[in-house]
This record gives sequence, C-alpha cells and structure tokens, in this order.
Amino acid sequence: MAIADWNEKFETGIEEIDAQHKHLFEVINRLSECFKAGKAEAGARESLAFLNEYTKEHFYAEEEFMRVVGYPKLEVHRVEHTELLTKVQNLIVKMDEGYLITADVATFVADWLAHHINEVDMGYVQFIREKTAHLP
Ligand SMILES: [Fe+2]
Repeated sequence: MAIADWNEKFETGIEEIDAQHKHLFEVINRLSECFKAGKAEAGARESLAFLNEYTKEHFYAEEEFMRVVGYPKLEVHRVEHTELLTKVQNLIVKMDEGYLITADVATFVADWLAHHINEVDMGYVQFIREKTAHLP
C-alpha cells in the first residue's frame, strides 16, 4: 500500500501545481518502497537527493506563482518550504556521514506534504478564488 495517496481533496485547480504535487507523492512512495525492498541505503540516498531537487523546483514554481498573484502570506509560506528543504538536506548529510535512516523519514515527508497542501497551499488557492470570483 502506498504511504502517500493523492486524492481530489489535494486539488488546487492549478494544472502545473497539481501535476507537481502528484509527482511529489510518487517520489515519496518510491522512497518508502526503498525501505520495504531492503535497499534503503543506495535507494533512499538517491530518492532523497531527487526529492531535494524536485522539491526545490516545485517550491520555486509555487513561490513565483504566489509572487505574481500578490499573495500576502508568501513569506510565511516560504519559511515552511525552507524548513522542509533544510530537513531533507540534513538527512542527506546524515546519510553521507554513515547514519542509517529509517522508513519514518518517508512517513514524515508524506505527512508533511498532506498537511502542507491542505493547510498552507490551500491558502493561496483560496486567495486566487476570491480574487477572481468577481471576474466574468
Ligand atoms: Fe507550498
């Protein structure tokens, strides 16, 4: 069973963002599979590195989007993004130093993403909806 399941409650209605979110769920599931398959070391290192790069791209796209639409809570949102990136990067450093990481990491990122989309991303979605509601 996948630990991160995308469903319509995560839908922002913004095509590019939804596609990236779906891809993030896939990456997290791939990370989780590494632990199940017992190839945690090489597989998890690779998956975490990919998660780091892809998350950076996705966060940048989201922050650009929020900046363009004039979302007032951009800075608070950016702090959450930076916190996750720092955690993922610290995990990569830990692995490089020889520490073993466990499947909890995949669960943590899956929970973080679900919470972040529902509680934080939906803030700018709501903002856009209100901003465009009066348009014909
Ligand atoms: Fe976000």
